[in-house]
Amino acid sequence: MQVIDAIAARKDELTRIRRDIHAHPELAFAEHRTAELVAARLEKLGIETHRGIGKTGVVGLIRAGSSSRVIGLRADMDALPITERNTFAHRSGAPGCMHACGHDGHTTMLLGAAEHLAATRRFDGTVVLIFQPAEEGHGGGAAMLADGLLERFPCSAFYGMHNWPGLPAGHFAVHSGPVMASTDQWDIVLHGRGGHAAMPHQCIDPITAGSALVQALQTLISRSRDPLEPAVLSVTQFHAGEAYNAIPDRAVLRGTVRTLSETMRARLEAQMQSIAEGVAQTHGLRSEFHYHRGYPATINAAEQAAICATVARQLVGTQNVSTTLRPSMGGEDFAYFAAQRPSCYVWIGNGPGEGGCTLHNPNYDFNDELLPVGASYWVRLAEHVLAR
Ligand code: NI
Repeated sequence: MQVIDAIAARKDELTRIRRDIHAHPELAFAEHRTAELVAARLEKLGIETHRGIGKTGVVGLIRAGSSSRVIGLRADMDALPITERNTFAHRSGAPGCMHACGHDGHTTMLLGAAEHLAATRRFDGTVVLIFQPAEEGHGGGAAMLADGLLERFPCSAFYGMHNWPGLPAGHFAVHSGPVMASTDQWDIVLHGRGGHAAMPHQCIDPITAGSALVQALQTLISRSRDPLEPAVLSVTQFHAGEAYNAIPDRAVLRGTVRTLSETMRARLEAQMQSIAEGVAQTHGLRSEFHYHRGYPATINAAEQAAICATVARQLVGTQNVSTTLRPSMGGEDFAYFAAQRPSCYVWIGNGPGEGGCTLHNPNYDFNDELLPVGASYWVRLAEHVLAR
């Protein structure tokens, strides 16, 4: 591996920072200690630092040369509402809160890159270091954009990186096109008429209608979707009734929809509504349909993906960079950045994922061996895109 020597020499220091953040996890939009740690470190390096963008977001600016080109490198800072089961010294000190997605590592890798970029400045333009809050389902990236990130720091492209258990440590995966799915939630309420379970003819049973609806919804995936276009529709909740001998008034169904394209997303939303209405009508009751759009799909731009693959190959060797892995149906807040500018979000292998070391698992931990690799990737990427 062609990891930058000066960064490799600081591996112990980066590991200390990473483990300190790991031991002090903070949930979405409450990353006060982490944001202050990041901002204080950037300032110590002489980097122009902006706090409080999108609530707890931090931005650092490193300029070199005279070019007006600007790119954004993004890391995330928040932890998850999970109680850690690891017993090592740097385990979470906050019950019910844990860095189970490696954002402690992402933040540290970008800090490592910041130090090297600020010291060497072998590029021409501006690197915008984006430390975003609330990646885990709370839209911290969208909050930073809504807070004027693009107007204040006009990036022409954004780059992101996430560790990936199951991919060998230090390997990279780069996707051109979709890499992560849209993550939407929905609620359907079926309003029937309750009554005595012995006299169903006097009732309108929302449980029978709801059961038919669960089956009908699955035909959207099995029958009306192009089988070559990925989509997931999961019914994850079905609430109805309280007694053994009473038919309830209503049933509530909830779940999630994942897609890799806006077209599929819009089609499923519309079809779900019409199936809910149709099934309700068949059973003689009224339906209520609520669809809540979460993160859009993360779509990597071809040009930026090619750049990232080139930089990764130069860093870790062609044989350690995959461009053919399938996308994940998980979601990613980087999608909001990628929707604004041509962007690329890569995976860096975290190792085999043994002992539950998988994302969002109470036994997960970020692999510190990646710190110099990821930091070197950021530096080489900035030097490549903003080449003198
Ligand atoms: Ni994550």
